[in-house]
Amino acid sequence: MQEELRTLASRLRAARTVTVMTGAGVSAASGVPTFRGPEGLWRSFRPEDLATPSAFERDPALVWEWYAWRRQRVASCRPNAAHEVLARWSHDESTQVHVVTQNVDDLHLRAGTRGLIRLHGSLWEAKCFDGCAAGARAWRDETVTLTNRLPRCPHCDGLARPAVVWFGESLDATDVARAAEAASCDVFLTVGTSAIVYPAAGFARIARGRGAYIAEINLEQTPASASADVSIFGAAEDVLPTLDRLLVAG
Ligand code: OAD
Repeated sequence: MQEELRTLASRLRAARTVTVMTGAGVSAASGVPTFRGPEGLWRSFRPEDLATPSAFERDPALVWEWYAWRRQRVASCRPNAAHEVLARWSHDESTQVHVVTQNVDDLHLRAGTRGLIRLHGSLWEAKCFDGCAAGARAWRDETVTLTNRLPRCPHCDGLARPAVVWFGESLDATDVARAAEAASCDVFLTVGTSAIVYPAAGFARIARGRGAYIAEINLEQTPASASADVSIFGAAEDVLPTLDRLLVAG
């Protein structure tokens, strides 16, 4: 792994633009369960069973209960060394570093990441489920526990829903455009993602098509490994600080 780390460090050092795409693995060391890891199930439900418009239509209380549980869990977590390194890089004056995340936990923001692109929304925001125009714009809602009454839209009193992207839904066009722009970079690094959920997983290929050097940090092989120029198998919270030290040491 030392050799791969040194190779990646020298690529990063030479890069003028770097884009980092993160997934749930980056927050694992903070105590946030990954989606497809051993703690990914809530009761007997998989994320795919609950994170859909039809699941919400069928049983909004159940879906809100799941989100309330996740909010409660995340509220007690703190950014880890991986978030901190990426936040520092995002403030670098000499290299332009974009961080694009699939995570809805806000830990990158809490670590101070500048210009974060959030592809899947935020656990702490809600929007109108009934589709009223004013409620299409997400609002901050930090209510952690559910009361008897389900959260309502402040504009039309319809049902409010978590402002996260669910399976089968489109991503926000502005976020996609920003991520696509960020895919024009010298080094594209994916960290802690299973790389199976599109369109997020497709940005590495876009970056490769534009000539970027592709790197991956994960505990294990992913579908992205085969097309990566370098894969580093290790924990994000260990590998990123090591890389950072190599960069500082020059
Ligand atoms: P997954 O749970 O699918 O994958 C987490 C990845 O992180 C796996 O490949 C693990 O091997 C890796 N991993 C775990 N701990 C790690 C660590 N400490 N360091 C490095 N890697 C580690 O999560 P995502 O890829 O983020 O979508 O999932 C993508 C999307 O699917 C999520 O954003 C969510 C989900 O359904 C929506 O909510 C729309």
